[in-house]
Amino acid sequence: MSLLAPQRGLLDALNQRGRRRMLQPVAGADFASNDYLGLAGSELLRDLTRAALDSGLPTGSGAARLLRGNHPAFAALETEAAAHFGAGAALYFGSGYAANLALFSALPAARDLVLHDALIHASALDGMRLGPATIRAFAHSDVDSARDTLRNWRAEGGTGQVWLAVESLYSMDGDFAPLDDLAALAAEEGAFLIVDEAHASGIWGDGGRGVAAPFAHLEHVVTLHTCGKALGVQGALICADPVLVELLVNRARSFIYSTAPSPLLAEVLRGVLAHLAADPARRLALLARVAQAGDLARSIGLAPSQSQILPVIVPGDTRCLAAAHALQARGFDIRAIRAPTVPKGTERLRLSLTLNPDAAALPAAFAALQEVLA
Ligand SMILES: Cc1ncc(COP(=O)(O)O)c(C=O)c1O
Repeated sequence: MSLLAPQRGLLDALNQRGRRRMLQPVAGADFASNDYLGLAGSELLRDLTRAALDSGLPTGSGAARLLRGNHPAFAALETEAAAHFGAGAALYFGSGYAANLALFSALPAARDLVLHDALIHASALDGMRLGPATIRAFAHSDVDSARDTLRNWRAEGGTGQVWLAVESLYSMDGDFAPLDDLAALAAEEGAFLIVDEAHASGIWGDGGRGVAAPFAHLEHVVTLHTCGKALGVQGALICADPVLVELLVNRARSFIYSTAPSPLLAEVLRGVLAHLAADPARRLALLARVAQAGDLARSIGLAPSQSQILPVIVPGDTRCLAAAHALQARGFDIRAIRAPTVPKGTERLRLSLTLNPDAAALPAAFAALQEVLA
């Protein structure tokens, strides 16, 4: 018998439950990527990459940052990113996943509490599991639930620091966190506030600097800006007080034991931040698309979204998958999102609005949606 029999069995079991995933070639108009501003394949990024290459920057870093991989391109990016996002310091990681592992495994200590929104991203949850702190969830975007959970933990004898962890814009629901109230709660309770701005960076907040920008300078606030979504490149920037950034450099295993990202991409990112600060055209074009999608959604009886992420709930795996396939067959790359990414019973089509499809694709996609959902 093959040594791989148990693994084949696992794949068969996934198959039987309709959960076996396959990597597929990309096709159809983009309503699925997080390349919201259409930067990833843009002429701008090509030009920035060419200029960075021509300036002699290496593609690979060759080592971890604490060894020989600390190319000056990282410090240049981090200085500008800290200024751009309004924080005391920044630290660049190769991915948002690695950044969340770092944050949640290295900062909260053994007697601390990580108090997180129930819908927080898997990468944050994985980081928490690697860390020593107690973990409690509060009901999605419910500040009273957060306060009660925190106070219950204290009443049970919890004495350490509290790390309140949320996203500013939720990736599967497209809704914004009540950040003002959460920031007030953090201040009231002497808690840290960690805000994952993955889907907001580059788009939302003043000049696209994130929804948490008004709080980013405070010593108890940490923001995470992923760079592979609206910013069109790769990686993530943790923006925080310099003390916390230094602690991450010293304690975060996903930073210490990993080859530094590409210096070339760090330089490209620096160019992207400068471009976004100087030219709001792409951001404004996306906001116009969000408004247009809201009107189109209403016109076919769907709830509009507050953001560029529009979930259309189609409960049931089979129904939701069938709807996605029907839309894909009509030329629209719209994906079904199922459990465990979203709670069972809330399976959905996730429409991601980007600047990649031409203007005519948006009304056409809603016409197709109306047909498929009828
Ligand atoms: C909210 C959130 N945080 C973190 C990540 C991870 O970022 P990355 O894709 O750069 O690893 C993602 C996306 O995948 C995300 O949606």
